[in-house]
Amino acid sequence: MSPDFLENLAATVGQANLLTSHDDRVPFDTDWRGVLNGRSLGVVRPSSVEEVANIVRLCAANSIGIVPQGGNTGMCGGATPDSSAQQIVVSLTRIRAIRELDTSSNCMTVEAGLSLAEAQMAATGKGLMMPLSIASEGSATIGGAISTNAGGVNVLRYGNMRDLTLGIEAVLADGTIWSDLKKLHKDNTGYDLKQLFIGGEGTLGIVTAACIKLHHPPSSRLTFLAGIESVESALAGLDDIRGRFGNIVESWELFSDVSAKLLMQNCGYEKLPVQASHPWYLLGELALHGDGDEDIWAERLVEMADRMRCDDIILATSQSQRESLWAIRENISEAERTQGKGIKHDVSVPAGSIPELITSVLDGFEMRFADCRINIFGHVGDGNLHINAIPRETGHHIKADTAAAISELVYDASAALGGSFSAEHGIGSMKTAQMAKYKRAPALNMMRQIKSAFDPMGIFNPGKMLP
Ligand code: MLT
Ligand code: ZN
Repeated sequence: MSPDFLENLAATVGQANLLTSHDDRVPFDTDWRGVLNGRSLGVVRPSSVEEVANIVRLCAANSIGIVPQGGNTGMCGGATPDSSAQQIVVSLTRIRAIRELDTSSNCMTVEAGLSLAEAQMAATGKGLMMPLSIASEGSATIGGAISTNAGGVNVLRYGNMRDLTLGIEAVLADGTIWSDLKKLHKDNTGYDLKQLFIGGEGTLGIVTAACIKLHHPPSSRLTFLAGIESVESALAGLDDIRGRFGNIVESWELFSDVSAKLLMQNCGYEKLPVQASHPWYLLGELALHGDGDEDIWAERLVEMADRMRCDDIILATSQSQRESLWAIRENISEAERTQGKGIKHDVSVPAGSIPELITSVLDGFEMRFADCRINIFGHVGDGNLHINAIPRETGHHIKADTAAAISELVYDASAALGGSFSAEHGIGSMKTAQMAKYKRAPALNMMRQIKSAFDPMGIFNPGKMLP
């Protein structure tokens, strides 16, 4: 590194936007869960794509690793620097303009640092909808959601970030600004290169803007919470609704009695708004278009509940009730965090194999891991469940060797059913060992070749994703 590297960096972004003191760096060097504490050489906060390109050139000339960061809400340490003090965090949150909201082509071109919530609001302001929704959407950014191919609670109907991204702009390893902000739904002109950056976790370049597909919002929504006796009923209910009415299900979220107890213990809930306690709960939301008569729909829901053998279901009758039902689901991660340092798993299997997955994880679990509980929740409709382990006693930590054994149990069980060890959170620095274990050698080889073609010096997010 040349002696004037930091000086040149400061000249690129302005002294105030290069943070080098310990106190200034800590919020960027630590992941939001407080699990990883990195130590960067500095944090730069560019305000334009040109500044990002200059930063990349400067880092490349000095062989300094670049860690792109959005809202720092990732789950796997993908945006946290290592502890070498040889990496620069590039925080994108000042590059946050809405460049265009095109109501004739139903898409918006926005910069990477805009939060998901701001993007959603902008679309709503024009009578449209940006459907990607995750619990951290107030801080999570467009660039972060693209780089991790974020999923969330609406994947069932609208897809994940990969499905919603029409075009991107990115800064490449030699500082080139690659603008591919197309609005096209169809484009068969060779390899679809943007797909490599979506879910690429900042290892191939820095995403600085994107063109995002928008949808027409439903004219109304039916949101309900049901107490159910089995996971099979949740799957049967989904099949029933889709079979009779088509693709109207926006969300189908499951959580267990353990989640409910955690909410009561740690988030101030006295009870859930259903009548009794149940082994499982289902939060569902249906999108209605046109003059959907809500009374008729309420009757249809009761029919569905009958088929699910459920007699404890509550339907939101106002927007505030809907929000409080959603808050239950969205507070589960926070309830886990208050409980103590646990471990998160983010697996997927073909939806029909979910009951088998749960049985194989829970079978004998308590005997083997008496100090821990498994908390299951997530996006049951698309086959993605969070099978997290939490300490039984509040404030305790799960020991490293226990954590490793539980993770192996969960990942092996998913792999045996043809599943994935990371459905939506990505790899970051936390799951590179699983990449080595579960990803087939030909896939890893192709990924390594792509990495060295795009980033021959290895400056982008060193140590992330690829083992
Ligand atoms: C969620 O769906 O709420 C998160 O992806 C899961 C988590 O916090 O483990
Ligand atoms: Zn999730």
